Formats: sequence, structure tokens, C-alpha cells
Amino acid sequence: MEPYITCEELTLGYDRIPVASGIGFTVSRGDYLCIIGENGSGKTTLLKTILGIIPPLSGRIIRSSAYTGIGYLPQQTDIQRDFPASAYEIVISGFEKKKGLRPFYNAGEKAQALAEMERLGITQLKDRSYSELSGGQQQRVLLARALCASANILLMDEPTTGLDPQTTADLYELILRLNKEGMAIIMISHDLHSAMKYATHILSFDEPVFYGTKKAFAERGKQAHE
Ligand SMILES: Nc1ncnc2c1ncn2[C@@H]1O[C@H](COP(=O)(O)OP(=O)(O)O)[C@@H](O)[C@H]1O
Ligand SMILES: [Mg+2]
Repeated sequence: MEPYITCEELTLGYDRIPVASGIGFTVSRGDYLCIIGENGSGKTTLLKTILGIIPPLSGRIIRSSAYTGIGYLPQQTDIQRDFPASAYEIVISGFEKKKGLRPFYNAGEKAQALAEMERLGITQLKDRSYSELSGGQQQRVLLARALCASANILLMDEPTTGLDPQTTADLYELILRLNKEGMAIIMISHDLHSAMKYATHILSFDEPVFYGTKKAFAERGKQAHE
């Protein structure tokens, strides 16, 4: 099976100043890649690079013909939390790019927006104001939006930040279900325990940089302690 995305020997950074180098990995259907590493090690920079917001300083990003797009769940800011729109409006805005200059969303897009809300169990929140929703509900709305935007890859940056333990557990289970249904997941996480529970692959920015299966990562950890 051809990977959706292959990254080779990436050097990441800003204005020619490197932040991280030697980054290589693939993302294929069904993969659940957790990206871990200390604060400031370059995780979010990688995400911006994959999304095409900034170019890599060197190396290659290859997107195969099987790649259809990435749905991105942004790290939430307080401004976004107060966004004045209904849950449904946020979800359907996932089609913003596809819609282009058309004035309205089409019937297929409206139907899919509702279907994604159904899939994530938030149909009843449809007409509620996004800003009034709980943190966990807001994350589900953003996930449904990302599912509209994409995609066979879901990209998330610390999606459980600010959520209570139960809501965090529920969100992880939901993401796992989407992964089991075939969605490839790329998740930045500072939560190593959950990463080891859910991921199939680990990319660690801590020196020396590591990419491989979760099992290989665990073996490496053992060797380091021997
Ligand atoms: N827009 C930017 N311009 C220049 N340097 C940046 C910018 N954003 C982040 N950095 C620097 O890049 C490094 C990696 O940051 P980041 O990717 O956000 O780390 P992480 O997500 O792993 O915490 C940090 O040293 C940070 O200060
Ligand atoms: Mg970050």
C-alpha cells in the first residue's frame, strides 16, 4: 500500500534557521502517528510544514495519488472559543475551500456536514452557539469540521489541552474509532502514556530523533535503561 505522505530527511525551521533535522516518516491508511518531544523541539513547526504553511529548509515531502487532503484540528485559542457561529456553521465551514467562490454550500456538502455531526454524536448541538458549548463539545464540532475538509488524514495539535480527564478519555476513544474506520491520524501529544496506548507509530523529536513502530520505540526505551 502506497503511503499517503512520505517525508524524507526534512530540516524544519524559519528563515533559514533550523529547528529540527533528520525528520523522516510515512503516513499510510490506518496509521496512528503520535509526535512527541519537549516543548520547543519543533512539533508544531512540522505540522505547519506538512500543511504547506512554511516550506522545509531541506528534504522532501511526497504526496501520493492516494492522498486527498488533511483535516486539521487547530490548537484552540480563546478567540476561537468565542467564535460567534452555530455548531453547524462551524462544521460546514470545513467545505470553505472546496466551495471557493460559490455563494452557498451545495446539497451534498450540507448532507455530509449533518452526517459527520451524526457520526460524532453531536446532531443535537446543531443550532447551539459554538461559544456556549463545553470544551469537549467544541472539540467534537472541530473534528466534524475537519472530517468535512478532508481527507484521509486528520492532523491534531494537542487536542486534549484544557479538557478534564473524562472528556479527554472520550475524545481519545472517538479518535481511535475514526482511526479504526480507516482515517490516518497524526497527533502531536505531550501525553506519552496515551501515545503509547493509541499510536501505531511514534515520531520523537527528542535527540536522537526517532521514527518507527510503537513496539520499536518501547524496545529502544528498554535498551536505554540497560
Ligand atoms: N514563527 C516563528 N518564527 C521563528 N521561530 C519560531 C516560530 N515559531 C516557533 N519558532 C521556534 O521554533 C522552535 C520550535 O517551536 P515549535 O515547533 O512551536 O515547538 P513545539 O511545538 O515542539 O513546542 C522554538 O524554538 C520556537 O521558538
Ligand atoms: Mg507546539
